[in-house]
Amino acid sequence: MSHLSELLRKIDTDRSNLIKALQAVQTDEGYISNAAIEAIAHHFTIATVEVEGVVSFYAQFKRVKPGKYKISVCDGTACHIKGASLVTGWLSEDLGIKDGQTDKEGLFSLETVACLGCCSLAPVISVNGKVFGNLDRKGLLKILKDYRKGGAA
Ligand code: FES
Repeated sequence: MSHLSELLRKIDTDRSNLIKALQAVQTDEGYISNAAIEAIAHHFTIATVEVEGVVSFYAQFKRVKPGKYKISVCDGTACHIKGASLVTGWLSEDLGIKDGQTDKEGLFSLETVACLGCCSLAPVISVNGKVFGNLDRKGLLKILKDYRKGGAA
């Protein structure tokens, strides 16, 4: 039995559990793959387009496999004022991706989030939950370089 079927086996096949199943898969795999869409459709005996429709309706569900390092750029009020859009711009430029995307090496993914709770350090990002604040372009590029080398900055 595949890992996905194993996961879905614990969820009742009533269609009202569709969101619950999607959340379980995303928590487990980090995104909703094509294989997951098919397995879920099979589990609930519904069409794959129906599952895809629900996935695309809710922003919480990701269709792209996240990178090894998930960069969250804070765009809460304090960070917004202190240049969150500049930070996003620097990241996009260096990584060649936009908000919500993963780079082609599968190393970094980029997302914008609300306040990370460290407003006094604005502008702030987190990488896999580790927070970096008071960012300028040089500091940010150094963080990326350190992660590329395989170690946490
Ligand atoms: S607004 Fe960015 S950490 Fe609070």
